[in-house]
Amino acid sequence: MQLNLEHVPFDCITRFIEGVAYRRTMEQKSATDVFSQWAIIGKDEGMERGHAPSVKAMLELALPKVKEDFTAIDLGCGNGWVVRLLSELGASHVEGVDGALEMINKANSVDTEHKYSHGFLPEWKPEMRFELVHSMEFLYYLQDPAQMISIIHDEWLTDGGVLVAGVDHYLEHEESLTWPEHVGVHMTTLQISQWKEAMELAGFTEIEIHQVASKEGFPGTLVMLGRANH
Ligand SMILES: C[S@@+](CC[C@H](N)C(=O)[O-])C[C@H]1O[C@@H](n2cnc3c(N)ncnc32)[C@H](O)[C@@H]1O
Repeated sequence: MQLNLEHVPFDCITRFIEGVAYRRTMEQKSATDVFSQWAIIGKDEGMERGHAPSVKAMLELALPKVKEDFTAIDLGCGNGWVVRLLSELGASHVEGVDGALEMINKANSVDTEHKYSHGFLPEWKPEMRFELVHSMEFLYYLQDPAQMISIIHDEWLTDGGVLVAGVDHYLEHEESLTWPEHVGVHMTTLQISQWKEAMELAGFTEIEIHQVASKEGFPGTLVMLGRANH
């Protein structure tokens, strides 16, 4: 069936389009609410197992670039498993931040040694700078991931500090393009060149882009790596 919109007033069409966009927004849940729920029903543990091969590869790329007793933070740390892993791998200070209260409650319930902050990004600010900023499967939940990458460069990292960030939702990973609708949360879809450009615009040097832990039907976690240059 073909729609003939020739005689429909323009403002009616505009109102209809705005209505569809509004309903879509209303149907979307906040990522932090969804992940709080995941923590309650134990889905964080499956996520930890699923992300482990990519994080292992990311840390193999990043750790040779920092000194042995580095300081670190994990953004969007979930239940805090990477915080504890970084501590085992030699971090002298490591902490995590996440906007899902139940993820933070879970992290605190299994680990009283490290600091886990409940904070909404990009607004939340750390109390110190770090030699390593790690983030796995977090950045694309933001409306403006490039802005967060700039903030990490300017405000979170020491001069010469390293960012390593991994994302599984990106334009070239076709299967991931249905995730926003499937999960019902906002995801910002960028292509590989746009992630790289965000690193360049933020001022990072020694930028590396990798796809790690690929397997049949999965082109790999897209990893961005760079050194802060203040
Ligand atoms: C896919 S999970 C990944 C968790 C963890 N990095 C891991 O690999 O297991 C994404 C995490 O980002 C957090 N998150 C999403 N948007 C956020 C925001 N704006 N501020 C803080 N945390 C956020 C969620 O609460 C969730 O725990």
